[in-house]
Amino acid sequence: MHTIKITALIGLFVGVLLTACGAPAGQQAPDAQDVPDAQVMSVYKSPTCGCCSDWVGYVEQRGFTVAVEDVEDIAAIKAEHKIPAAMQSCHTALIDGYVIEGHVPVEDIERLLAERPDVIGIAVPGMPIGSPGMEVAGTAPQPFDVVAFDAAGNTEVFASYHR
Ligand code: CU
Ligand code: CU
Repeated sequence: MHTIKITALIGLFVGVLLTACGAPAGQQAPDAQDVPDAQVMSVYKSPTCGCCSDWVGYVEQRGFTVAVEDVEDIAAIKAEHKIPAAMQSCHTALIDGYVIEGHVPVEDIERLLAERPDVIGIAVPGMPIGSPGMEVAGTAPQPFDVVAFDAAGNTEVFASYHR
């Protein structure tokens, strides 16, 4: 798929930049209030996905504990968790009974876990530039929505990032 290839390249590019800049200095020990419930987020991704790793780094930095599972057939994971085609992105994460699909901001994951709506999960469909883990230096962020989806196939905008 064309778009996947391009974003994989961008992810690679960003990865190279990050490597060049070195690891972030002085990662402070998170204090208790900043840490979400001591639940492990499972992230399923393809072994070669650079932007997936960038998103994992982002959620870890924001206090989540993540168990990454590299899978060859990511489509099977999406089918298993009933993620509609229009909602799909690169990686699929599971936490506390919910699906987090793609480059979803931490704020929305926290709100989902606090409000606990009757949905399968929330998604940032595709891989919009400027969403967490998809930042590209010198490239303007694209507007994007976080969309909630349920078992009946309904979707609803959960949050909008139109900057
Ligand atoms: Cu991605
Ligand atoms: Cu990803």
